[in-house]
Amino acid sequence: MSTDTRPTPLIIDCDTGIDDSLALLYATASTDCEIVAVTCTAGNVSAEQVGENTRAVLELAGRRDVEVALGRATPLARNLVTTPETHGPRGIGYAELPAASMPLSTRYSPDLIVAEARRRPGELTLVTLAPLTNVALAVLREPELPRLLRRLVVMGGSYRSSGNTAPTTEWNVNVDPESAAIVFRAFGPEVGVAPAVASGVAPAVASGVAPTRPIALGLDVTERARMVPGHLAALAARAGCTADGTRPDGSTNRIVRYLADALRFYMEFHSRYDGFFGAFIHDPLALATALDPSLVRTAAVAVDVELSGRLTVGETVTDWRRVWGRPANLDVAVEADADRFMAQFIERVGGLAARQG
Ligand code: BDR
Ligand code: CA
Repeated sequence: MSTDTRPTPLIIDCDTGIDDSLALLYATASTDCEIVAVTCTAGNVSAEQVGENTRAVLELAGRRDVEVALGRATPLARNLVTTPETHGPRGIGYAELPAASMPLSTRYSPDLIVAEARRRPGELTLVTLAPLTNVALAVLREPELPRLLRRLVVMGGSYRSSGNTAPTTEWNVNVDPESAAIVFRAFGPEVGVAPAVASGVAPAVASGVAPTRPIALGLDVTERARMVPGHLAALAARAGCTADGTRPDGSTNRIVRYLADALRFYMEFHSRYDGFFGAFIHDPLALATALDPSLVRTAAVAVDVELSGRLTVGETVTDWRRVWGRPANLDVAVEADADRFMAQFIERVGGLAARQG
């Protein structure tokens, strides 16, 4: 656990999405988190619907003050494929939320990311819970982005396990593999570093400092964060209501009710495809790791993204045996303390729901 008590300033890039919405609630519930802005990427649903869901969830959490920006409506080089079977037609399962009333930012997500990183060099953590379209556009615009950020934390890829979209590919990378390839290379050690700095001849200065390697959480670890009905019941008890959000006085806790309705859809999906009645909550684990990297153990490794395979487009090809001889460009999570994370999720989001009461 970090000893630094200042809240971690985060830009959250998401494609809200059921598990994205849980990550947003976790962020708003966390006193160690400063939400700088939320940038929306097309993915689970259209970019416009992501903007709607993101604002509706932030309003549910009482955070109308957070800046929410839209990005590009399609992946960099491919048509958008959405996932209504996983997240429901609007991305929030069976849940109903009032239409968002807080305004969208006038800023374009890639511009916002670059502007905030320049404004607070070395301070911000960017956590991505979605295809990497916005980040690729941001780093194409500002090649120094990897050095301007404190760290990038990515939910995406599958480094030592099978995929969830095609046999070897994970959804976020599968949707926009070109963007993932750009980002994984741009945040690598050699790119953008002046040769004299890379060779150790010149000291690392502002623009020459090697970027901190991104932490990447693939399915290998995010599938250990399994939410089952017992977790929801514990969270509801923490909030002082039943698992469907009913309080002793008959009124409704709206956060618990939202979770129950969204997760029922997500759990039905997992029971059909993954053999258990529960849900992988990939994105909240990534968000929690951005706040507290001690939740995962990582291995530094070289990763590239397959862009032209017949069966494998979007595969995160990982050089575990170092046959490429390339320097590592990602810290890939190989273990996660899922129990500690689940306990924190229940305590924090249950506490947020209790305060709403
Ligand atoms: C990722 O895909 C999306 O459907 C989820 O929100 C998560 O970000 C998991 O593969
Ligand atoms: Ca997501």
